[in-house]
Amino acid sequence: MKAVATAPANIAFIKFWGKKDESLRLPANGSISMNLSEVNTRTSVEFSIDYKTDYVEIDGNVSEGKELERVIRHLDLIRSEAGINFKAKVVSKNNFPKGTGIASSASGFAALTMAASKALNLKLSEKKLSVLARLGSGSACRSIPDGFVQWKEGRSSESSYAYSIYPPDYWKIRDVIALVGDVSKKVSSTEGHTRVESSPFFKARLLSINHKIKEIKHALKTKNFTKFGEIIEEEAINMHSVMMTSCPPLFYWTAKTFEIIQAIGDWREEGLEAYFTIDAGPNVHVICLEKDVDMVKRRLLQIKGIKNIIVNKPSFGARIV
Ligand code: DP6
Repeated sequence: MKAVATAPANIAFIKFWGKKDESLRLPANGSISMNLSEVNTRTSVEFSIDYKTDYVEIDGNVSEGKELERVIRHLDLIRSEAGINFKAKVVSKNNFPKGTGIASSASGFAALTMAASKALNLKLSEKKLSVLARLGSGSACRSIPDGFVQWKEGRSSESSYAYSIYPPDYWKIRDVIALVGDVSKKVSSTEGHTRVESSPFFKARLLSINHKIKEIKHALKTKNFTKFGEIIEEEAINMHSVMMTSCPPLFYWTAKTFEIIQAIGDWREEGLEAYFTIDAGPNVHVICLEKDVDMVKRRLLQIKGIKNIIVNKPSFGARIV
């Protein structure tokens, strides 16, 4: 009763920020993302009658407290699907630092869902896997399907899931991640989500979001990179405005984040077409066309204080290894 799965992290182009149901992790709005080829989680899950408790290890550290509880809750969900109550041993490894704004909860819960359901021999559809992953971490539902993904907000647990809108090879765009921080963030996204209502801008954000989803889907369909880039930047600033105006405020950007944002604007004026997006952390995702990757990397290397650069292609979703 053992299985191993890998799942990619994903970068949201239209963001999930705010939940209409916290325990079900139903999002306030739909979102659009792309799975990332170079940042992923590999998780093995083994159920056995011999295990007396659930054991969870992430990146070599034995989980305890809230982290452990969250994984156990997720295992319970999958155990109840299978009607089996054996305890499990979970060993999970990220190939990127946790809690830095690269969504480790997305790849983590997608890989856990996939591995645990396979280990229990559940034959689940992609939709069902996405629903289950969502219950562990909202954005994890987008790491199950391939390539470019849409998460339908839905009105119930069963109707809120993600599906592929284009395969990974549909469009040769790249996400060049500029890692500026590798310390775990002070406020998790789970806690951040609960603050949205306190921002005076949240309602306004929701009013325009469906139109934005339509527009970005059109930009994707027509492969209009300029339009696409303009939408993702506006959207990232919009979400971070809600974060910064929440009570208490959430500042995920650092001075370095802002320096990179400004540099990207300068590059565009000089003819290098690149755009930024940022999740719940200080790292900047620089989105560009494949042909411009080397130039983007070269420019990023000129900025002092960037700790690492990771070039991602669009990727497949979660897989059994
Ligand atoms: C800013 O999916 O991490 O990355 O459901 O509480 O685990 P939980 O939240 P999570 O939130 C992701 C927020 C975001 C935007 C996005 O990925 O859409």
